[in-house]
Amino acid sequence: MDADKDLALPPYRPSLLPAGRSGDWTLTKLRLPERAATSVIDARPDAFRFRPGEYTELRQGGVTFMTDLYDEWWTQRRAIERARGVGGKVLITGLGLGMVVEAILATPALAPVSTVTVIEQSADVIHLVAPHLRHQFADRVEIIQADAFTWRPSASVHFDTVWHDIWPDPDADYVDGDMARLLEHHRPWSRWQGFWPQDYRDALAGKV
Ligand SMILES: C[S@@+](CC[C@H](N)C(=O)[O-])C[C@H]1O[C@@H](n2cnc3c(N)ncnc32)[C@H](O)[C@@H]1O
Repeated sequence: MDADKDLALPPYRPSLLPAGRSGDWTLTKLRLPERAATSVIDARPDAFRFRPGEYTELRQGGVTFMTDLYDEWWTQRRAIERARGVGGKVLITGLGLGMVVEAILATPALAPVSTVTVIEQSADVIHLVAPHLRHQFADRVEIIQADAFTWRPSASVHFDTVWHDIWPDPDADYVDGDMARLLEHHRPWSRWQGFWPQDYRDALAGKV
Protein backbone atom coordinates (compact mmCIF):
# COMPACT_ATOMS: atom_id res chain seq x y z
CA MET A 1 0.00 0.00 0.00
CA ASP A 2 1.23 3.51 -0.82
CA ALA A 3 0.63 4.75 2.73
CA ASP A 4 2.88 2.00 4.14
CA LYS A 5 5.56 2.71 1.54
CA ASP A 6 5.44 6.43 2.39
CA LEU A 7 6.11 5.64 6.06
CA ALA A 8 9.58 4.49 5.00
CA LEU A 9 10.20 6.87 2.10
CA PRO A 10 7.75 9.70 1.42
CA PRO A 11 7.37 10.86 -2.19
CA TYR A 12 9.59 13.62 -3.61
CA ARG A 13 8.27 17.11 -2.89
CA PRO A 14 9.69 20.34 -4.32
CA SER A 15 10.77 23.05 -1.86
CA LEU A 16 8.30 25.74 -0.78
CA LEU A 17 11.05 28.02 0.56
CA PRO A 18 10.54 31.66 -0.43
CA ALA A 19 13.17 33.42 -2.55
CA GLY A 20 15.59 35.62 -0.59
CA ARG A 21 19.10 36.91 -0.07
CA SER A 22 21.38 37.10 2.98
CA GLY A 23 24.99 38.23 2.63
CA ASP A 24 26.40 36.51 -0.45
CA TRP A 25 23.84 33.65 -0.27
CA THR A 26 20.73 33.67 -2.47
CA LEU A 27 17.62 31.54 -2.71
CA THR A 28 16.24 31.78 -6.24
CA LYS A 29 13.18 30.31 -7.89
CA LEU A 30 13.84 29.01 -11.39
CA ARG A 31 11.78 27.49 -14.14
CA LEU A 32 13.19 24.75 -16.34
CA PRO A 33 11.03 24.80 -19.47
CA GLU A 34 10.18 21.80 -21.63
CA ARG A 35 12.93 21.05 -24.11
CA ALA A 36 12.47 20.28 -27.77
CA ALA A 37 12.93 16.59 -28.56
CA THR A 38 16.52 15.68 -29.35
CA SER A 39 18.30 12.65 -30.71
CA VAL A 40 20.93 12.88 -27.94
CA ILE A 41 20.34 10.03 -25.50
CA ASP A 42 20.86 10.70 -21.77
CA ALA A 43 22.49 7.46 -20.64
CA ARG A 44 22.35 8.35 -16.93
CA PRO A 45 19.93 6.54 -14.56
CA ASP A 46 16.35 7.82 -14.61
CA ALA A 47 16.74 9.89 -11.39
CA PHE A 48 19.12 12.22 -13.29
CA ARG A 49 16.85 12.66 -16.34
CA PHE A 50 15.90 16.27 -17.21
CA ARG A 51 12.58 17.14 -15.56
CA PRO A 52 11.00 20.47 -16.48
CA GLY A 53 9.37 22.37 -13.61
CA GLU A 54 9.72 25.09 -10.96
CA TYR A 55 12.74 24.67 -8.73
CA THR A 56 14.61 26.42 -5.91
CA GLU A 57 18.35 27.01 -5.96
CA LEU A 58 20.70 27.94 -3.08
CA ARG A 59 23.84 29.75 -4.21
CA GLN A 60 26.82 31.36 -2.54
CA GLY A 61 28.05 33.94 -5.01
CA GLY A 62 28.41 32.00 -8.25
CA VAL A 63 28.50 28.54 -6.64
CA THR A 64 25.34 26.43 -6.56
CA PHE A 65 25.27 24.55 -3.25
CA MET A 66 21.86 22.91 -3.55
CA THR A 67 18.74 22.64 -5.67
CA ASP A 68 15.53 20.70 -5.17
CA LEU A 69 15.91 18.82 -8.44
CA TYR A 70 14.65 15.24 -8.25
CA ASP A 71 18.14 13.72 -8.18
CA GLU A 72 19.01 15.72 -5.03
CA TRP A 73 16.16 13.97 -3.24
CA TRP A 74 16.90 10.58 -4.81
CA THR A 75 20.55 10.65 -3.76
CA GLN A 76 19.58 11.40 -0.12
CA ARG A 77 16.91 8.73 0.13
CA ARG A 78 19.08 6.18 1.97
CA ALA A 79 19.38 8.67 4.85
CA ILE A 80 15.65 9.43 4.70
CA GLU A 81 14.74 5.72 4.80
CA ARG A 82 17.23 4.97 7.55
CA ALA A 83 16.00 7.88 9.73
CA ARG A 84 12.32 7.02 9.24
CA GLY A 85 12.95 3.30 9.62
CA VAL A 86 14.76 3.37 12.98
CA GLY A 87 13.41 6.69 14.36
CA GLY A 88 15.04 8.40 17.35
CA LYS A 89 17.61 11.17 17.02
CA VAL A 90 19.00 12.36 13.70
CA LEU A 91 22.08 14.54 13.03
CA ILE A 92 22.51 16.32 9.70
CA THR A 93 25.62 18.27 8.71
CA GLY A 94 24.82 20.95 6.11
CA LEU A 95 21.42 22.70 6.15
CA GLY A 96 21.19 23.70 2.45
CA LEU A 97 17.51 23.94 1.48
CA GLY A 98 16.52 21.77 4.44
CA MET A 99 15.26 19.27 1.86
CA VAL A 100 16.39 16.19 3.77
CA VAL A 101 15.04 17.60 7.05
CA GLU A 102 11.61 18.12 5.51
CA ALA A 103 11.62 14.64 3.94
CA ILE A 104 12.41 13.11 7.34
CA LEU A 105 9.97 15.11 9.47
CA ALA A 106 7.05 16.28 7.31
CA THR A 107 4.99 13.08 7.38
CA PRO A 108 4.49 10.19 9.83
CA ALA A 109 7.35 7.66 9.74
CA LEU A 110 7.64 3.92 10.39
CA ALA A 111 9.45 4.71 13.65
CA PRO A 112 8.98 8.17 15.23
CA VAL A 113 11.88 10.58 14.70
CA SER A 114 12.14 12.61 17.91
CA THR A 115 14.57 15.34 16.80
CA VAL A 116 16.69 16.39 13.86
CA THR A 117 19.79 18.38 14.84
CA VAL A 118 21.39 20.32 11.97
CA ILE A 119 24.96 21.66 12.02
CA GLU A 120 25.34 24.56 9.57
CA GLN A 121 28.32 26.86 9.39
CA SER A 122 26.73 29.79 7.56
CA ALA A 123 24.62 32.28 9.55
CA ASP A 124 23.19 33.47 6.21
CA VAL A 125 21.90 30.02 5.24
CA ILE A 126 20.35 29.68 8.70
CA HIS A 127 18.74 33.12 8.31
CA LEU A 128 17.22 32.10 4.95
CA VAL A 129 16.08 28.57 5.75
CA ALA A 130 15.62 28.04 9.50
CA PRO A 131 12.32 30.00 9.91
CA HIS A 132 10.67 27.78 7.26
CA LEU A 133 11.67 24.64 9.20
CA ARG A 134 10.96 25.98 12.70
CA HIS A 135 7.50 27.07 11.57
CA GLN A 136 6.69 23.50 10.50
CA PHE A 137 8.53 21.41 13.07
CA ALA A 138 8.97 23.63 16.16
CA ASP A 139 11.28 21.95 18.69
CA ARG A 140 11.63 18.73 16.64
CA VAL A 141 14.31 20.60 14.66
CA GLU A 142 17.40 22.14 16.25
CA ILE A 143 19.71 24.23 14.07
CA ILE A 144 23.18 24.98 15.40
CA GLN A 145 25.67 27.33 13.77
CA ALA A 146 28.95 25.42 13.88
CA ASP A 147 31.60 23.68 11.81
CA ALA A 148 30.79 20.01 11.13
CA PHE A 149 34.49 19.13 11.51
CA THR A 150 34.75 20.38 15.10
CA TRP A 151 31.24 20.42 16.66
CA ARG A 152 30.57 17.87 19.41
CA PRO A 153 27.30 17.00 21.16
CA SER A 154 27.03 17.02 24.95
CA ALA A 155 28.35 13.91 26.64
CA SER A 156 25.94 10.95 26.57
CA VAL A 157 24.03 12.15 23.48
CA HIS A 158 23.93 9.60 20.63
CA PHE A 159 22.36 9.79 17.19
CA ASP A 160 20.61 6.90 15.44
CA THR A 161 21.22 8.37 11.98
CA VAL A 162 23.94 10.81 10.91
CA TRP A 163 23.97 12.23 7.38
CA HIS A 164 26.75 14.41 5.99
CA ASP A 165 26.04 16.75 3.06
CA ILE A 166 28.26 19.85 3.19
CA TRP A 167 29.63 19.87 -0.39
CA PRO A 168 28.48 21.61 -3.56
CA ASP A 169 30.41 19.16 -5.78
CA PRO A 170 30.54 15.40 -5.02
CA ASP A 171 33.66 14.96 -7.17
CA ALA A 172 35.89 17.78 -5.87
CA ASP A 173 39.35 16.49 -5.00
CA TYR A 174 39.05 17.30 -1.27
CA VAL A 175 35.75 15.41 -0.77
CA ASP A 176 37.18 11.95 -0.01
CA GLY A 177 39.53 13.42 2.61
CA ASP A 178 36.64 15.38 4.15
CA MET A 179 34.44 12.27 4.33
CA ALA A 180 37.18 10.30 6.10
CA ARG A 181 37.68 13.14 8.63
CA LEU A 182 33.95 13.46 9.33
CA LEU A 183 33.57 9.68 9.72
CA GLU A 184 36.25 9.63 12.42
CA HIS A 185 35.16 12.81 14.16
CA HIS A 186 31.49 11.77 14.47
CA ARG A 187 32.11 8.06 15.19
CA PRO A 188 31.76 8.30 19.02
CA TRP A 189 28.12 9.50 18.95
CA SER A 190 26.90 7.92 15.69
CA ARG A 191 25.11 4.59 15.29
CA TRP A 192 25.08 4.96 11.47
CA GLN A 193 26.76 7.51 9.17
CA GLY A 194 26.09 8.21 5.50
CA PHE A 195 27.68 10.62 3.02
CA TRP A 196 25.91 12.32 0.12
CA PRO A 197 28.91 12.28 -2.30
CA GLN A 198 29.20 8.51 -1.89
CA ASP A 199 25.51 7.93 -2.53
CA TYR A 200 25.52 10.39 -5.44
CA ARG A 201 28.39 8.55 -7.11
CA ASP A 202 26.75 5.15 -6.47
CA ALA A 203 23.42 6.37 -7.89
CA LEU A 204 25.08 7.79 -10.99
CA ALA A 205 26.88 4.48 -11.52
CA GLY A 206 23.50 2.70 -11.21
CA LYS A 207 24.64 0.82 -8.06
CA VAL A 208 21.80 2.02 -5.79
C1 LIG B 1 24.58 20.78 -0.33
S1 LIG B 1 24.04 21.81 0.96
C2 LIG B 1 23.12 20.69 1.99
C3 LIG B 1 21.82 20.25 1.36
C4 LIG B 1 20.87 19.54 2.32
N1 LIG B 1 21.28 18.16 2.51
C5 LIG B 1 19.43 19.57 1.84
O1 LIG B 1 18.78 18.50 1.84
O2 LIG B 1 18.92 20.64 1.46
C6 LIG B 1 25.53 22.04 1.88
C7 LIG B 1 25.41 22.91 3.13
O3 LIG B 1 26.54 22.64 3.97
C8 LIG B 1 26.99 23.84 4.56
N2 LIG B 1 28.39 23.64 4.99
C9 LIG B 1 29.51 23.65 4.19
N3 LIG B 1 30.60 23.38 4.94
C10 LIG B 1 30.16 23.16 6.22
C11 LIG B 1 30.81 22.82 7.44
N4 LIG B 1 32.14 22.63 7.50
N5 LIG B 1 30.07 22.68 8.55
C12 LIG B 1 28.71 22.86 8.52
N6 LIG B 1 28.04 23.18 7.39
C13 LIG B 1 28.76 23.33 6.26
C14 LIG B 1 26.76 24.88 3.46
O4 LIG B 1 26.75 26.19 3.99
C15 LIG B 1 25.42 24.41 2.88
O5 LIG B 1 24.34 25.00 3.58
